[in-house]
Amino acid sequence: MSLTGGVTRRDLFMKAGIFCNGVVGLILAVPFVRYLLAPVTRERKVGYDSWIPLGGLEQFPSGETRLATYRNPVVSATDGDTANIACWVRNVDGKTFQVFAINCAHLGCPVRWFPQSNLFMCPCHGGAYYQDGSRASGPPERGLFEYGYRIEDGKLLIKAGEMPTPGQASNIVREIRSCV
Ligand code: FES
Repeated sequence: MSLTGGVTRRDLFMKAGIFCNGVVGLILAVPFVRYLLAPVTRERKVGYDSWIPLGGLEQFPSGETRLATYRNPVVSATDGDTANIACWVRNVDGKTFQVFAINCAHLGCPVRWFPQSNLFMCPCHGGAYYQDGSRASGPPERGLFEYGYRIEDGKLLIKAGEMPTPGQASNIVREIRSCV
């Protein structure tokens, strides 16, 4: 049966079906395209690249490891106290520092510094780290994560927007220990 202009009902339904399938296909393609373009188009949150002051250098005496806290720069207003993040600051020799994430490299429990034994200890599964953050024993497969740091106007600053990850290199060169 033909409608006006010689268009059959079959043709009309066929075109409507193709059109609807096209629309659905386009809608389904949006997340895939966004995923593929994410590395190019993704905007980093404000604060991602910021340097956060941990305090004056006098708060971190030479040769000691002290606890410090900072406010995570990548937060929303509702984050409250969860945005206050602790870290361990080691003043190696008065000029060189190491700033460790407080989270254990195994499953993230907060590690604690024991100056008596010169070890960071994890309360969850017994992981232990040497004073330079390298792994001493237990389940962690690597040392503590470290923040990048710099010193400016007598203050210690860390790059806190970017949380330490396994891919980041240490700030100081460590002696490589031999297994034999
Ligand atoms: S979380 Fe620290 S040893 Fe498992």
